[in-house]
Amino acid sequence: MHKTILITGGAGFIGSHLVRLMVNKYPEYQIVNLDKLTYAGNLANLKDVESKPNYSFIKGDIVDAEFIYQLFDQYNFDGVIHLAAESHVDRSIENPNEFIFTNVVGTANLLNAARKSWKGAMEGKLFYHVSTDEVYGSLGDSGFFLETTPYDPQSPYSASKASSDHFVRAFHNTYKLPVVVSNCSNNYGSHQFPEKLIPLFINNIKKNKSLPVYGQGLNIRDWLWVEDHARAIDVIFHEGKNGDTYNIGGHNEWTNIDLIKLLCKIMDRKLNRAEGESAKLISYVTDRAGHDMRYAIDSTKLQNELGWVPSLQFEEGLEKTVDWYLENEEWLENVTSGAYQQYYDQMYLSR
Ligand code: NAD
Ligand code: DAU
Repeated sequence: MHKTILITGGAGFIGSHLVRLMVNKYPEYQIVNLDKLTYAGNLANLKDVESKPNYSFIKGDIVDAEFIYQLFDQYNFDGVIHLAAESHVDRSIENPNEFIFTNVVGTANLLNAARKSWKGAMEGKLFYHVSTDEVYGSLGDSGFFLETTPYDPQSPYSASKASSDHFVRAFHNTYKLPVVVSNCSNNYGSHQFPEKLIPLFINNIKKNKSLPVYGQGLNIRDWLWVEDHARAIDVIFHEGKNGDTYNIGGHNEWTNIDLIKLLCKIMDRKLNRAEGESAKLISYVTDRAGHDMRYAIDSTKLQNELGWVPSLQFEEGLEKTVDWYLENEEWLENVTSGAYQQYYDQMYLSR
């Protein structure tokens, strides 16, 4: 069946994997990628699909309400998969306002436009909001985040995502807008901007720069292969229940320091260094303010109701990720030059 689907943030890390999947898997769909191309958005991520007839790109800002209304008038979208966001916790600590504008106001603009565009004809329409497990706050030594876990966001980033989740559910409750929400754990894989832990450390190891481990490195994250997240979004978009929430996670918990040591070991092998060489770059630095201790997702609902399971073991995925960054030096150099370098200098001077 023909459908016109708006994907926001499609030039970013997860968005580009989702756009690739949707464009290739559904030639009968028209996929419209709307992205502002902030420092995190990169059209080079989509080189392999940019000339496909069922793909188009529009540069624009979701914070610009007039522009968003016009876009919905022009395209008459059947569905929206909303990923555009400011996504880095450290940046939200430095400057929360961008997060409020894009993540909260931007999401509200999209909701208003969908509501107006679909008024009186909601059947078959869907607004899919892609969110994070960070909205649930921080876990102690045991337990998992369930879809019913109360919200307890701790950083400006997670507070902005929590707020946007609430707006999505409020539009469903108040205006009967058809929605689904998913809350996912930490993603890893190719095309992730090298400010996040794994690509930052791969790049630093390669360049023999120090590896800034926050606090004691004992915080725990639950890592998921990004292509598994994209597959989950596809399944939920097509088979998820209107109004429902689905948690997505890898059942794959690692303390930061164990993950970093594994990464150092893989890098030693790939770069023909003596074992233990890369780990010498580890440097313990001041902890992130308000650093959440542990995230762990229970994705039983998604597995039982929609049959989704993660496909890849972490060691294999991490190795594939390292290979991709080592083979794509030009991509890495392009995104780590210029404005990013200034951010990086400022970030580590202030620590
Ligand atoms: P990213 O930072 O790599 O990409 C975000 C994209 O949004 C970029 O292409 C950027 O240009 C675009 N964008 C930012 N502001 C915009 C605006 N005002 N208008 C239009 N486009 C704008 O992020 P990501 O890691 O791919 O995350 C995508 C989504 O998934 C986010 O909503 C994030 O909260 C969520 N999420 C991420 C993870 C993760 O581990 N990375 C986990 C769970 C959920
Ligand atoms: O849980 C999902 C979230 O995962 C997403 O919603 C976010 O968009 C995404 O950025 C990610 O957030 P984290 O803060 O967990 O990811 P980050 O890669 O920034 O950090 C992972 C862990 O590593 C965290 O405990 C902080 C630590 N860290 C990070 C960096 C960048 C370091 O010790 N040193 C670093 O330099």
